[in-house]
Amino acid sequence: MRTQTVISRESTPSVAVFGASGHTGRFVVTELLRRGFRPIPIGRDAARLAGFQARGINSRTANIDDPSSLDQALAGADAVINCAGPFLDTAEPLVAAALRARVHYLDVTAEQSSAVATFERFPTPARDAKIVVVPAMGFYGGFGYLLATAAMCNWPSADEIRIAIALNCWQPTQGTRLTGQRNTATRLVLRGGKLVPIGNPPASSWAFPEPFGLQDMKELPLTETILIGRHLRVSNLQTCINLAPLRDLHNPATPPPQAADATGRSAQRFLVDVIVRNGASTSHVFAQGRDIYAFTAPLVVEAVQRILNGAAQGVGVRTPGELFDAPDFLRSLAPEHITFEIEAGL
Ligand SMILES: NC(=O)c1ccc[n+]([C@@H]2O[C@H](COP(=O)([O-])OP(=O)(O)OC[C@H]3O[C@@H](n4cnc5c(N)ncnc54)[C@H](OP(=O)(O)O)[C@@H]3O)[C@@H](O)[C@H]2O)c1
Repeated sequence: MRTQTVISRESTPSVAVFGASGHTGRFVVTELLRRGFRPIPIGRDAARLAGFQARGINSRTANIDDPSSLDQALAGADAVINCAGPFLDTAEPLVAAALRARVHYLDVTAEQSSAVATFERFPTPARDAKIVVVPAMGFYGGFGYLLATAAMCNWPSADEIRIAIALNCWQPTQGTRLTGQRNTATRLVLRGGKLVPIGNPPASSWAFPEPFGLQDMKELPLTETILIGRHLRVSNLQTCINLAPLRDLHNPATPPPQAADATGRSAQRFLVDVIVRNGASTSHVFAQGRDIYAFTAPLVVEAVQRILNGAAQGVGVRTPGELFDAPDFLRSLAPEHITFEIEAGL
């Protein structure tokens, strides 16, 4: 049986990062180093990992179609973070490898069908192996879900959750573009307490605080819908995003993210507004920050740190809100990565 690792001077936990040569993977490796972990960058192409070797970080190559290469790459790790998308191609073989190696697994998928498959396929083997498997710990997915969980204010159930995301722009990575092309599954929404196909939702608008103000919105359910559907008792969920970043995303001429400072973060701003209604009571959570790709790194690394410190509740395939106290988790990211406010239910 694997024992839980506590960070101390005597033992530095090792966290493997699959897809480490990608834009998000590089932020995750840097965040692991910053927090005192020993990262093990893994990729399929040794040449794309050369930058880590040059920084004195030993990397490993592995192919998602070759289980023995995955086993060798995960040897000696305490956890693995999967940053290689499309996750429809990588999540299942990497969770299977994490189970064989008995190491915790986290990913940052925004692909609903990838997260659903992980929840359906692996709960018993993950429980038996006494590991924690957390799909969708990225900006799209885990973040909106944690904000919604915090906004529930310990209510046992709610009538409605509305998550509104505003971005000033979206310069997508190649991985985001490929994932969008690969993921052709009909999106699911939560209506009447059940996951159902999205249909044709009407256009809407949302009054954000400045600098965004009133924005035209489109419903865009991603993995937060899967996480919320599994954990929170809510009848209806609507997740929407403003139209400007979607125009960027759908424009093939939009460049990839451009670094705006020495950390590599872009100038992209995000604002997420969550309203939960429970009968006549409503509560409101509001968070803002910078660069959805860079911000995914402290999100997923905070989660792995809590798991390795023994601060997570339970084992098996879990949503972040089952494992962690959502308000405490979000507060730990402020003020460095987000500003965050809760107006508790009135
Ligand atoms: N949920 C969220 O909010 C969130 C946030 C950030 C990223 N993501 C997702 O994370 C994924 C990566 O994004 P990114 O921004 O890092 O993109 P990226 O810069 O294009 O990097 C993609 C990475 O995935 C690797 N990869 C892709 N398919 C692979 C496969 N079949 N086997 C092994 N490695 C594979 C690539 O390896 P090579 O270098 O060898 O090509 C590369 O390292 C995307 O799916 C993106 O949508 C989600």
